[in-house]
Order: sequence, then structure tokens, then C-alpha cells
Amino acid sequence: MEKKIVVLPGDGIGKEVVDEGIKVLDTVAELFGHQFKYEEDVIGGAALDQFGIPLREETLEKCQQADAVLLGAVGGPKWDTLPGHLRPEKALLGLRKGLGLFANLRPVEVFGPVVESSTLKREVVEGVDVLVVRELTGGIYFGLKDRGEYDSGEAWAKDECIYSVEEVRRIAKVAFEAARGRRKKVTSVDKANVLETSRLWREVIQEVHQEYPDIELEHMLVDNAAMQLVRQPKQFDVLVTENMFGDILSDEASVLAGSIGLMPSASLADAGGLGMYEPVHGTAPDIAGQGKANPLATILSCAMLLRYSFGLEQEADVIETAVKSALEQGWRTPDLVLSQDDPKSVLGTTEITNKIIEYIRKSA
Ligand code: NAD
Ligand code: IPM
Ligand code: MN
Repeated sequence: MEKKIVVLPGDGIGKEVVDEGIKVLDTVAELFGHQFKYEEDVIGGAALDQFGIPLREETLEKCQQADAVLLGAVGGPKWDTLPGHLRPEKALLGLRKGLGLFANLRPVEVFGPVVESSTLKREVVEGVDVLVVRELTGGIYFGLKDRGEYDSGEAWAKDECIYSVEEVRRIAKVAFEAARGRRKKVTSVDKANVLETSRLWREVIQEVHQEYPDIELEHMLVDNAAMQLVRQPKQFDVLVTENMFGDILSDEASVLAGSIGLMPSASLADAGGLGMYEPVHGTAPDIAGQGKANPLATILSCAMLLRYSFGLEQEADVIETAVKSALEQGWRTPDLVLSQDDPKSVLGTTEITNKIIEYIRKSA
């Protein structure tokens, strides 16, 4: 198979982890006889430094012509005081909106060997398998933003939160369809006791549910959901929610898996459309440049890329199995080690990738 992948490393550890993802993709390509052509481009802070804007039109066009996009992360202290339209994060938002990537899948699977990496109790996290379905191109992220001044001279700022019926309907379908291939339960998370957008959200979810009588639907308020996620996470199968709630809850859920460095994601458009793949974490300025970032979230995102965009199920499985093997053998990046007395072998970003590549070669 011949495919074109646009690679957008971004800033901070983005580049470090994306480099490792590509090594893994190359190994799979070699072993299974595929040809992946990479086209790298700069976005975020790197693009601000080089071109004065976070996302160039030609970058977006390149992505539109690709078979898939692999992204690291954007942002960092250097660009934190720039105005909103010139922030590195604007690149990510522009790509998501510009490519129509409304469905963000963030699986939270607790791998047996790293149960001890979670700060939560073994019996709470062992066996957790939740799919967070986050709406990605609507809500407060994309509503009107404004600043002004009251007559008194006091400044104000606002972010509008808006959802249309169709925006909710299409993400609801993604969630119900995903549940069909899983444990057949959807928890829709909203704040319908306060927000009008949430009341619309709930109505539309209920309406779409009529087409899925085989799926159990439950509504949960977001404050309770944040609590239930760490209290009794095994009650969740598919958790569907709006953009900002999904952002917050997926970082929280990463604690179940042991580290945000283990959390992959896929951002998808309508069936058959383009897909963008990225770790859930950010640029980690506190550890950038030290060679110790966990590349597994990105490597697992590459597996999702092969599965969802290229239909390469077996190749994706081989990567996921190799990641699990490396963890079973006790290999860890520092973020997965809670205590200094842990006997596990701590490796850097490249070293743990080399282990994974070794397991891929053995298994294929
Ligand atoms: P972050 O996810 O970058 O880091 C939070 C904590 O998790 C840090 O202690 C970091 O060291 C750790 N961490 C994250 N990824 C890790 C990995 N792979 N291995 C080991 N440890 C890891 O979140 P933040 O510090 O709030 O944000 C930093 C910057 O990243 C900000 O500019 C933010 O806007 C940006 N950000 C970008 C994305 C993205 O591009 N998708 C996502 C989140 C945050
Ligand atoms: C994420 C990030 C982004 C988001 C930021 C960097 C715009 O936190 O992908 O989770 O809020 O969606
Ligand atoms: Mn986030």
C-alpha cells in the first residue's frame, strides 16, 4: 500500500515523540511491504517563529491532499503572551475546523502491567476500558470571542458557546455506532441543569438514541461525571460529550491509564474522510529537550492511524501488542514510575521505542 502522511511535529516534546512514531511506522511499512511517504511541515510556535503565523494556508492544503495527518503538540511559554489569533494553539484549532474533524476518539485502556502507575487503587482501575468521544469543532472553542469595556471603564471578555442540532446529531451517531462494537452503553455528559446548549444536546442525543434501541443510554451531569470517573470508572463504556468537557475529562481519565503519556487520539471527519492522529498530551515544557518524554501515546496514535485511515487492522494490532509487550517486560519511561524504589527499568524516549520496534520485528 502506498500512502502519504503529513507530519506536523509542532513544539516542545511534539517533535521528540513524533520522530519515534515515524520509526515505528517505518518498521511496519518495511515488514508488511507498504510505502509511507512523509511530508513534514511546521505549525504552532515553530511556524510563528518562521512565518509569523501559527498555521499557513498551504499547510492546511497539504493536509487536505494527504491520506492522513500525524501531529505532535503545539504551544509553550515562549508564545504564551501573544494575542489569541496568534497563539500556537490556534494552529490546532484551525486544522480541526479546516479539515472538518468533528469526532475526537480518545480511548482510555488500562494496560495490566502499568496498573501500578496509576495513583488510583488497583481495584478501581484494573480492566478499565472507556472510549471518550469528544465533539471537536463546536461549542465554546469556536463561538464568538470578544472584549470590550463597560461604561464604568471596567473591561470584559466573552466566549460564546453554541451548538447546532446537526453538530450534536453527527457526534451522537459516532458514539452510538462505537458502542455497538463495544459493551453497548453510552453515557452522555452535559450540564443540562444550567446550560441551554446542554439542554439541546440532551434532546438531540435522546432523539438519535431512537435509532439505537440496542444501546443503553444514560445522561450524566459533568460535575458528577468528573467524580464518577475516578470513583468507579468501570461503569463507563462510551462517554460522549461536548468540546470543552471532553478536553477536561480526557486529561482526568489519563490518570486511570497511568499517564497522559499513554493516551492516543484520532480526530475524524465524516466516514471515509481524512483523519488526524495525535497524543492527548501537550508540549510538556517541563521535560522538553531531555529525551524522557513518553512516546507511547504517539505510537498508539500511529496504530489508530493505520486502523482508521488505512484499514490496516493487523498492522495496528502488531503495534499495540508490541507496546503491551514492552510494558509487560518492565520497560518504563519516567512518567510511569511513581516511586524511586520501583524495580522497573527506566528508559528514555528513543530507548523505549527501540524496545517496541524489537517486539514488532519479533512478532511480524
Ligand atoms: P502537557 O500535557 O503538555 O503537560 C502536563 C504534564 O504532563 C506535564 O507535567 C508534562 O511533563 C506531563 N506530560 C505530558 N506529556 C507527557 C509525555 N509524553 N511523557 C511524559 N510526561 C508527559 O500540558 P500543559 O503543561 O498544560 O501544556 C503545555 C503546553 O502544551 C501549553 O502551551 C498547551 O497549550 C499545550 N498543549 C497542546 C496540546 C496539543 O497540541 N494537542 C495539548 C495540550 C496542551
Ligand atoms: C487537546 C489540547 C487542545 C484542546 C488545545 C491545545 C487547543 O488541550 O488537544 O486536548 O483544548 O483541544
Ligand atoms: Mn487537552
